[in-house]
Amino acid sequence: MNAKRRIIRTALLALIGLVVGCTIAWLQIQADRNQQTMPQAASNTLVSGIALDGSFDMTDHTGRAVTQADYDGRFKLIYFGFTYCPAICPTELQKIAQVMKALDSAQAEKIQPIFITVDPERDTVEVMRQYVEMFDPRLVGLRGTPEQTEKVKQGFKVFASKVDTEDGGDYTVDHSSFIYLMNPANQAVGIYRMQDDAAMITADIARILGDS
Ligand code: NI
Repeated sequence: MNAKRRIIRTALLALIGLVVGCTIAWLQIQADRNQQTMPQAASNTLVSGIALDGSFDMTDHTGRAVTQADYDGRFKLIYFGFTYCPAICPTELQKIAQVMKALDSAQAEKIQPIFITVDPERDTVEVMRQYVEMFDPRLVGLRGTPEQTEKVKQGFKVFASKVDTEDGGDYTVDHSSFIYLMNPANQAVGIYRMQDDAAMITADIARILGDS
């Protein structure tokens, strides 16, 4: 009887947790919608009220030590992920490649696309080099020590967490998926979500470049 009660209680708590989780997700979606339809909002993006530290100290895919200062005077289009990601990372990096191709050459010259790995353990400089080449010759891949990686994740408020797979041999990484547009002063001026397509991002970047 006791065990049965415990099971029922656990099931109830799980159900409550699910409802609370869904409500939070729903509220988040509503907030995003409101933000998008706000007439005074200059952009379609989620930037308002988000302060990010856009600095980094890492190694690029050619083995060169770089910081944000190496891309001075340019905007940066930054995505965080890992090369073993089966679907979302390649989709988003493909999107960045499409945006770079869709911008006219004068606009594209003002943008440095960057992929930062949240899995430096497996994403060595060589792995990063081979990976970024598949998307766009202009794409820079950055990796850091675990400490450097933690710091840049915190700066951009990136969530990423290692998850062991069922078979126990390999692991995957759950991570947030946003494309950040940083201005030359390293402030976020655009944050794009998975549902924002290349055409929308291209138009938004062209508008932002036109204003700057
Ligand atoms: Ni991914």
